[in-house]
Amino acid sequence: ADVFTYDPGFTSTASCDSTITFIDGDKGELLHRGYPIDQLAEKSHYLEVCYLLLYGELPSSGELEKFENTITRHTMLHEQMQYFFRGFRRDAHPMATMVGVVGAMSAFYHDSTDISDNSQREIASHRLIAKMPTIAAWAYKYSIGQPFVYPRNDLSYAANFLHMCFSVPAEPYHVNPILSRAMDRIFTLHADHEQNASTSTVRLASSSGANPFACIAAGIACLWGPAHGGANQACLEMLKEIGSPDKIPEYIARAKDKNDPFRLMGFGHRVYKNFDPRATVMKQSADEVLDLLGVENNPVLATAKELEKQALADDYFSEKKLFPNVDFYSGIILEAMGFPTSMFTPIFALSRTVGWVSQWKEQLADPHHRIGRPRQLYRGHTLRDYTDIENR
Ligand code: CMC
Repeated sequence: ADVFTYDPGFTSTASCDSTITFIDGDKGELLHRGYPIDQLAEKSHYLEVCYLLLYGELPSSGELEKFENTITRHTMLHEQMQYFFRGFRRDAHPMATMVGVVGAMSAFYHDSTDISDNSQREIASHRLIAKMPTIAAWAYKYSIGQPFVYPRNDLSYAANFLHMCFSVPAEPYHVNPILSRAMDRIFTLHADHEQNASTSTVRLASSSGANPFACIAAGIACLWGPAHGGANQACLEMLKEIGSPDKIPEYIARAKDKNDPFRLMGFGHRVYKNFDPRATVMKQSADEVLDLLGVENNPVLATAKELEKQALADDYFSEKKLFPNVDFYSGIILEAMGFPTSMFTPIFALSRTVGWVSQWKEQLADPHHRIGRPRQLYRGHTLRDYTDIENR
């Protein structure tokens, strides 16, 4: 009989060759096409990082301008898609709406579903990156009963997203450039993260030859889980539940208790065993944004900082190498900007779209790629004869 390697959770199985993103979990290093994330977060911006992930090199100014124009040209949704949004219950979670709407794109954009055609692949990539902010913003608007706000192509990618979320037809939202920079940085920090669960889902879906919209919808569905992208929502809800720094020891004790399923959300990572470099940038950004908004003595930020301090000083967390991850501070920034917790994971999804798309393109271009088909170790019954119902 065949012998298969058992690797639950794929901790030691490489599923592909890739040249996009490199992580050294012991050093806390994250590189996109060789460039460290802290330099990209500091000096670059989201659309430039999108170009880098998609095409492998930083763009010249002409290349960047052309790319930005292309993305800007695709921000509107097919008008008929509004009816698709309107079919959902108002109280639907925006992630539920996004999974449905993105999957439905293959019913609207027939000229970009043929994966054997390079130019169709290219158009699908651009459409997904350009339309995802509109889709996320509309899922939000629908959930709060406000009219959909159309994209504005004179604004930057991040500013346009804030506009679509917070403007109403009666009154435009004036986008503060510092907030739009902070938004852009959140997008940049989430842009790609090699073969995480949602990216692997996109690759596995794509391995069957499924169309790009179906593959990205599968990635969004996977991201939603609280162990993955759903952790940012879960983390802020946890911080609010803790409420004040004096309650922290109780929650730390629960996280350490083997008989309690509670975990510190925003803590721990499969690959980072020293620190998550994205969390370092996010923490700085949280301070800047709260300062700008004049939020002094924010109890959630105070709880987060104290929780981080106490957890890091605790043997349980240091022995298991558990540190704050990207989701630990992002929610504090998003909430200060005015987003409800239900929008945190949609924002992660829109940021990660470029990563999914880049990995999808890389996979299709790989001459070794074939359908993904994990094997199993069968532990069930051996052969037995069918028993008639009256004899059971
Ligand atoms: N709080 C308390 N204990 C924890 C935590 C935590 N947040 N994370 C891991 N542990 C313990 C866990 O109980 C286990 O203990 P033991 O070895 O005694 O059984 C040990 O640490 C290893 O945990 P694991 O679940 O085997 O590790 P994993 O690599 O399978 O899981 C993880 C990684 C991120 C899913 C996990 O750390 C976790 O659930 N964290 C909380 C959720 C979270 O913040 N997720 C966001 C991850 S970063 C962004 C993203 O990927 O979307």
